[in-house]
Amino acid sequence: MYILGGTSAKNVAQNLANKIQQPLLQATYKRFPDDEFYVRVLDDIAGEDVLIVQTAYPDPKIVELLLMQDAVHDAGAKKITVVLPYFGYSRQDKKFEEGEAISSRAVAQHISMHADCVITVDPHKEHILKFFSVPAYSCSAVSTIAQYLKEKNIDFILAPDKGAKDRAKEAATLINCEYDYLEKTRIDGTTVKITPKKLDARGKHVAIIDDIISTGGTMANSIKELKKQGAKTVSVACTHGLFVGGAKEKLLSADCDEIISTDTIETEFSKVSAADCIAELLLKTLPHIKN
Ligand code: R5P
Repeated sequence: MYILGGTSAKNVAQNLANKIQQPLLQATYKRFPDDEFYVRVLDDIAGEDVLIVQTAYPDPKIVELLLMQDAVHDAGAKKITVVLPYFGYSRQDKKFEEGEAISSRAVAQHISMHADCVITVDPHKEHILKFFSVPAYSCSAVSTIAQYLKEKNIDFILAPDKGAKDRAKEAATLINCEYDYLEKTRIDGTTVKITPKKLDARGKHVAIIDDIISTGGTMANSIKELKKQGAKTVSVACTHGLFVGGAKEKLLSADCDEIISTDTIETEFSKVSAADCIAELLLKTLPHIKN
């Protein structure tokens, strides 16, 4: 098996190659003067199994992925597994209003074209896996994040909304501490309201865990609520750190003590790697790569 790491997932691809001990392919990536992408796989992969690792975000990275898949398919790869550390568009997973696109389905259908199997990490909703027309699996980076938080002596885990409760529970179980969740109401794409709720956070080192930090509004409001209730420190952790629209500044001005993210999207906050859980899933679903 060979691994082809795309430009949006260099770290995950390298870590994955180390973990499952399979070689990275050589490829040329460049952009034409009009910004169109070019890819050329330099190794002979005819008859080989290839793992393409590319985060499908932002939009140009989706086109890069489709071209990588085309190149690998055309070069005669036997089986193509597409690893999407972050699957962009996963939040538009249904029609919220008549006339809308089901964006994650549209993207999934295109990715399925030259894929035999798809793997992604902490998708916003599990049901989006059904949008791929090939077998699709997910894995979770929560245990890797929990391991990091354990070393930081976190003693209370909080989910910013009920939907993230199971994630908080899983992390708290691994850390062996308490957990709770907040009530969040989304007003629009950038505004959320956190309903005050009595928490057992006084004097504690709290970590709030979510799948995505986008504009940081959810986390900033949660931090403020926790600090009001006497939390000693409040860290925020997520799998997918988009950090758009001044998220970093918003979190810091809310008095956030630490920002932690995986490398599904590589940023200055990528302190743990999603390669751990991807490798675990690969070794389970493709046991032959153990050799
Ligand atoms: C939504 O349900 C997600 O789990 C996150 O809570 C959300 O995407 C975070 O967005 P933002 O950082 O813009 O508040």
